[in-house]
Amino acid sequence: MTVRLSVIGTGYLGATHAACMAELGFDVIGLDVVPEKVELLNSGKVPFYEPELDEVLERNIKAGRLRFTTSFQEAAEFGDVHFICVGTPQQSGSYAADMSQVFGSVRSLAPHLKSGDLVVGKSTVPVGTATQIAHELSQSAPGVDIAWNPEFLREGFAVEDTLNPDRLVIGVRSHEGEAKLREVYAPLIAKDIPFLVTDFPTAELVKVAANSFLATKISFINAMAEVCEAAGADVVQLAEAIGYDTRIGNRFLAAGLGFGGGCLPKDIRAFMARAGELGAEEALTFLREVDQINLRRRSHTVDLVTKELGASVRDKNICVLGATFKPDSDDVRDSPSLDVAVALANAGANVIVHDPKGTVNAERVYPTMKYSTDVAAAAVDADLILHGTEWAEYREIDPAELGKIVRTKNVIDARNKLDVKLWRDAGWNIRALGRPTA
Ligand code: UGA
Repeated sequence: MTVRLSVIGTGYLGATHAACMAELGFDVIGLDVVPEKVELLNSGKVPFYEPELDEVLERNIKAGRLRFTTSFQEAAEFGDVHFICVGTPQQSGSYAADMSQVFGSVRSLAPHLKSGDLVVGKSTVPVGTATQIAHELSQSAPGVDIAWNPEFLREGFAVEDTLNPDRLVIGVRSHEGEAKLREVYAPLIAKDIPFLVTDFPTAELVKVAANSFLATKISFINAMAEVCEAAGADVVQLAEAIGYDTRIGNRFLAAGLGFGGGCLPKDIRAFMARAGELGAEEALTFLREVDQINLRRRSHTVDLVTKELGASVRDKNICVLGATFKPDSDDVRDSPSLDVAVALANAGANVIVHDPKGTVNAERVYPTMKYSTDVAAAAVDADLILHGTEWAEYREIDPAELGKIVRTKNVIDARNKLDVKLWRDAGWNIRALGRPTA
């Protein structure tokens, strides 16, 4: 392979992109500003939990195709194509995205870039960012081209989604930029993965439009769950039934505690903020409702727990199953389950949170909460079990066995993944969100 790649930022997106591009045969250098992360990555270890990524990373470091650095100069001089994969979190006190890492990394790279290099944005950004970067680079790094190539990977499936994406989207303004990205993605294009070439704003918008659609789908089914609860209907059956219509589809219709994580919540808010700046605020007012429905799932669950335990949770023992925002991840950013656990603890309950992978990260954010990596230890003397994140191992729990160690056999399935009949037959009072009470 002739093109050499640099990947700026080694979070879920950057570390996965760097390792997977090396897996495709490219020589890759990854950059992060945190020296401890770089050291860990260079030793073949992933600083977060992501299935399959360890093996891909280790294999490619050993093969000499992949290494990591903290030096922008080294990364800029090594690569011909530079992928920007840094975070764009929500600004505190505003819906808008904090763009300091994106502009900071481009500015740090610029003085070391070579004429003919291509900078490729992969971070999720407000529409208009690529044009702004192009303008900056035309002054600070003449002869350097730019493209926008949004990433659609899901945590928990990051390697699979990078090596077998549903589609590739590139926003370009030159034939050279397109040709270079066709070369980078040639192994995927050869597998007939759709390759869409657009302008900058369209590529930027594809990403936030996709995440907004997914968030809307989840909030739609959660709104139906609210109505089902009021009417005594079953949202799980309703979702299955509407999902058979291929125009609707059955994916992303799992009603429950709603969406969290580092992407969907902040992306829909940043999208609303950007639309406002563009004078198109009205077009996205529905996303405010999507956000509200989603947040209401959390307060509704707190209310349900409180109701199940009498009028108050004070001094009640509550075991929360799941700290991460979804299974197969150790990411606790904006985790619905952890949010509910914190609300219950703040209301005076004795809460223990169990998670197979997320307790270390959860402890960093909420150090005063009690955590356990053993379900039985977390459930001893519980007055109520709350199933908040659908890790597969929770479906393996034997309700009869668990029933022997709790104080009261109360369970709330906030993810609609437990076998209601099995738990009921074992003598549990089970409530599932959006499903009939008995
Ligand atoms: C999401 C998108 O799915 C990716 O395509 C996108 O690349 C990524 O954001 C990003 O912008 O980087 P991710 O945040 O990893 O990926 O998680 P999802 O699998 O989308 O789940 C998001 C949340 O929705 C989770 O809390 C999950 O529990 C919840 N969810 C998902 C539901 O409540 N119901 C569903 O039916 C599906």
